[in-house]
Amino acid sequence: MTSVLAIETSCDETAVAIVKNRYILSSIVASQIDIHRTYGGVVPEVASRQHLQAINPCITQALQEAKLNWGEIDGVAATVAPGLIGALMVGVTAAKTLAILHQKPFIGVHHLEGHIYATYLSDRDLQPPFLCLLVSGGHTSLIYVKDCGVYEMLGSTRDDAAGEAFDKVARLLGLGYPGGPAIDRAAKTGNPQAFSLPEGKLSLPEGGYHPYDSSFSGLKTAVLRLVQKLETENKQSLPINDLAASFQETVARSLVKRTITCAIDYGLKTIVAAGGVAANSALRQYLQEAAQKHNLNVQYPPLNLCTDNAAMIACAAVDHLSRGHISPLTLGVQSRMAITEVMKLYE
Ligand code: KG4
Ligand code: ZN
Repeated sequence: MTSVLAIETSCDETAVAIVKNRYILSSIVASQIDIHRTYGGVVPEVASRQHLQAINPCITQALQEAKLNWGEIDGVAATVAPGLIGALMVGVTAAKTLAILHQKPFIGVHHLEGHIYATYLSDRDLQPPFLCLLVSGGHTSLIYVKDCGVYEMLGSTRDDAAGEAFDKVARLLGLGYPGGPAIDRAAKTGNPQAFSLPEGKLSLPEGGYHPYDSSFSGLKTAVLRLVQKLETENKQSLPINDLAASFQETVARSLVKRTITCAIDYGLKTIVAAGGVAANSALRQYLQEAAQKHNLNVQYPPLNLCTDNAAMIACAAVDHLSRGHISPLTLGVQSRMAITEVMKLYE
């Protein structure tokens, strides 16, 4: 059994968790959403300062709730990439300090690998290989998960990430920040067939379309034009719920189509959906239905583990540590890093 304390501060949640193999002993998430909401999005400098204030109380609470002392913890982990540099530095500096103080190995974790590991916390028998649809505020990726630290990128977005599109369209509709949950809520009472919106497709030089890559900037512009048209035509209030439902339907259907095609092409029987957008109710429903139709198995982390948390980072770190993957204390943070480079984080 391996126990790891992990810190996640890549964006706007200060999170600390202790995980023993695939079991959560404690998971603390101090969200900064209310602070950033007043600015309509995450302000990096504000995020760093908030992390500094929240980090020590979160570490203390995580240790108390897990009822563990340092003698029972085998390693200290932190998200090192990708993310906001100042925000990442707060978590990494705290983790390295604890590692030195308590003479524990330090494990740097790639944020996206953490999102993939969130699923192991609910499906403890899950084993690679599988296909992961990773949809978050910064990424829209189809990842072939071959083993711990071994990934192949099969699909990505050419412009906006899925979560970014949700956030931008929500702002356009006056639904506030964060946009994904707001659109999901509004769409519940909207008609997804009310408006026909274009699914972003990427042409291939040899003809046809890229089967796995996504594009959301055209869809976002189409919603903007539609809103402008409705505003000039109709002086009454906008059909916000219908707009939200139609947008959500287009994104969910397009992601599901690419994911199923990719899983079938690569002969992968299991699909894992991870990242903040994997909390979307339409995406979960359509992916489940399509997978069933094609005899594929779908796994999702529970909603609270889809969005940023430290339990998923600890879970990834447990697997790396148990394979002897340890990071040097000189390891720095990086704002961008491909998931295919994960093994560069270990000695
Ligand atoms: O994974 P995450 O918490 O942070 C990143 O690593 O980016 O994802 C945050 C993103 C945001 O863009 C948010 O709007 C979106 O996930 N999100 C959702 C839902 N819940 C969160 N998007 C659609 N539907 C949801 N229910
Ligand atoms: Zn994330």
